[in-house]
Amino acid sequence: MNQRSQYRRLVDFELHNQMQLLSNQLQIKQQELEKSRNCYVDLYDHAPVGYLTLDNNGKIFSINLTGASLLKAERHTLIGKLFSDYFANIDKQAFVTYLQETFSSSRKTSIDLKIGNIDDILSYVRLESTVINSKNMCRMMMTDISQLKKMINLNRDLLTENRQLMKELFRVQEKERRVLARELHDALGQWLTAIRAENEVILNYTDKNSIIFTSAQAIKECTEKMHQVIRTMLHRLRPILLDTLGLPDALCELKKQWISHNTGTILRLELSGNLSLLGERLNINIFRLVQEGLNNAYKHAKASQIDVFLGRETIMGNSTAEFLLLKIKDNGKGFNLHANSTGLGLVGMRERVITLDGRMVIESAQNRGTDITIRLPFPAKN
Ligand SMILES: Nc1ncnc2c1ncn2[C@@H]1O[C@H](COP(=O)(O)OP(=O)(O)OP(=O)(O)O)[C@@H](O)[C@H]1O
Ligand SMILES: [Mg+2]
Repeated sequence: MNQRSQYRRLVDFELHNQMQLLSNQLQIKQQELEKSRNCYVDLYDHAPVGYLTLDNNGKIFSINLTGASLLKAERHTLIGKLFSDYFANIDKQAFVTYLQETFSSSRKTSIDLKIGNIDDILSYVRLESTVINSKNMCRMMMTDISQLKKMINLNRDLLTENRQLMKELFRVQEKERRVLARELHDALGQWLTAIRAENEVILNYTDKNSIIFTSAQAIKECTEKMHQVIRTMLHRLRPILLDTLGLPDALCELKKQWISHNTGTILRLELSGNLSLLGERLNINIFRLVQEGLNNAYKHAKASQIDVFLGRETIMGNSTAEFLLLKIKDNGKGFNLHANSTGLGLVGMRERVITLDGRMVIESAQNRGTDITIRLPFPAKN
């Protein structure tokens, strides 16, 4: 073998070795790549949420295993199918509209929909989607929110039940108060009148200098005070005028009584429009709302002026709605609306308003007074 061919063999050998090395390295890289790919496929397929790619017609282009299991189908049967086929009938159109919105938006969109048949136990998903740039495709994340929906529904049912109970509680409370007021008026009141009449006889037939006359005079004063106390209790328990003359007169009487107890405060009461035929339920609730509003203004606000307005309000819109507007405003020291309170007055006011399907807004600030605005639908729903 000459020197030239020897050199050639050496070069070939070297080349072969290098090729072998490169091939080994390539194999290792390929194995690493395969491992990493498997890892990502595993992550994609078994992610805690469903992932999908859809075209702009709503056909499924790809879906991970979690997504397929949420739709209760084998993955291969889903590819190329319309995603809307897997929603409950009531939500099919909602999905189509959502998809159009997603493709015409540059931001992330989201919607909650019911999957499966309407008779299925609650199974809801939340979809969050973004369009893939410059392609007619979108990526979608699908989260199972069935438990969340169940809790929301349960909470809503409990709240409705609670509201029903509150409504019943107010009704029973007013009925009980009315019975107590009647007993107080008819039984206790009559007995007291009888005592006063008998006492008058003693006073008329007794020597003015005798000790019996002095005692009878003391009994007279005591019974008069008792009468006053009973009258106040009666008014608190059940404003008699509410049943006989209606809300406007009962509110005027409340104002009269209030002023006689709180001489240092100006109380203005403005009644607007016809308020005489609102019905018993609205009457008593509005009366109690004003009563508690005034109690609070007296107890906490140290206000020099309180304004109460009650009137009808018509709000024009697509459909005209009529409301009763009640405003209780004081110029007192105000309070922090977010502070914790053990009181039940404001909570009770809010509950009353809710049971009448109304809205109550309180505005208050330190030394700037308190402004309560209540709107009640009229006529009231029963
Ligand atoms: N008009 C007001 N001015 C200033 N503070 C007020 C006014 N109304 C309510 N507050 C504040 O809000 C708190 C809660 O009022 P709420 O009527 O619920 O309870 P309360 O009056 O303390 O007790 P309750 O009404 O149960 O007898 C009050 O303790 C008071 O601090
Ligand atoms: Mg109170």
